[in-house]
Amino acid sequence: MSGPNKNYDPVEVAALDPEAIDQAVASALAAASAATTLDELKALRAAHQGDRSPLALANREIGALPPSAKAEAGKRVGQARGRVGQAFTARQAELEAERDERILVEETLDLTVVDDARPIGARHPISLITERVEDIFVAMGWEIAEGPEVEAEWLNFDALNLGPDHPARQMQDTLFVAPEGSGLVLRTHTSPVQVRTMLDREPPIYVLCPGKVFRSDPLDATHTPVFHQFEGLVVDEGITMAHLKGSLDAFVARLFGEGTVTRLRPSYFPFTEPSAEIDVRCWICSGEDDNCRTCGGTGWIEVGGSGMVNRRVLSAAGIDPDRYTGFAFGLGIERSLMLRHGVADMHDIVEGDVRFSAQFGMEI
Ligand code: DAH
Repeated sequence: MSGPNKNYDPVEVAALDPEAIDQAVASALAAASAATTLDELKALRAAHQGDRSPLALANREIGALPPSAKAEAGKRVGQARGRVGQAFTARQAELEAERDERILVEETLDLTVVDDARPIGARHPISLITERVEDIFVAMGWEIAEGPEVEAEWLNFDALNLGPDHPARQMQDTLFVAPEGSGLVLRTHTSPVQVRTMLDREPPIYVLCPGKVFRSDPLDATHTPVFHQFEGLVVDEGITMAHLKGSLDAFVARLFGEGTVTRLRPSYFPFTEPSAEIDVRCWICSGEDDNCRTCGGTGWIEVGGSGMVNRRVLSAAGIDPDRYTGFAFGLGIERSLMLRHGVADMHDIVEGDVRFSAQFGMEI
């Protein structure tokens, strides 16, 4: 910037004309109040207050005035610059206040919001399926019954018509509880809860018994020494196999989808007579794909055993077999889970890695 002008030039001195100064002030004030952001205000301030602004240029001309005119011109320009400065300062304060208020709203932190940046884990699919199955039967009016995992050998075997010399007793890979002869085993199935229930209450009985069972199988891709079953038991007057079939069909339709049905295939269990394997219509191909990987092209998937409660079991539990009949079934949960969701390796179910469980969604 050049220094004060010492040479009188009527054209340049025109900048000191009172009207020109009033106009410069008016346009500066208008600019200040029109600014809507601090950046805008800064730019306008430079234009109206900076070295090249009309008032700064006018100020430079004061030196060129005759001494008699200097004082008045100086006062006028000084006042004008003062007003402009004040206007910009005031507008700046307003815009800063607005900005601060906006930041307070925009950057509000709600400290009551739960921090979900940390993973919260996932429920195991075995728990989810068990609860879903329980819900289905409870909705049909059944009750949930439970029994201990360390079970009396008599309830796990004898009362279920599996006598000491019964061949099936050896087939169950039983884990016995020390010391030898304790009469206790880790239950090999949920069927002893049937007997406990019948000893405990009078018919009519409609119960579902979910729980852990144990066998001395090593853990591999398809076996685990600890797994889960659920047992169904109905004892009432006039119960027939048709009730068994109807209940199973109603259940699988709810678990696997409307239209899914079961097939009963003749079989043998000591505690039921007659007995049947339960097959479920393949929920992937509905029996229409010879190459289906889920059912192996058979159209059916075996999920458990069932039958009419053996008269000897009713008698052992103190129920009159001439008055009451009943049906029972037992299904494996791991197997259903593997088939239903294509889980290829039992290790995934057993190891408890949250990345496996999280895939099944969170149901509470
Ligand atoms: N307890 C049998 C098992 O673990 C399954 C079973 C079969 C249960 C037939 C039953 C039934 O109630 O009627 O292999």
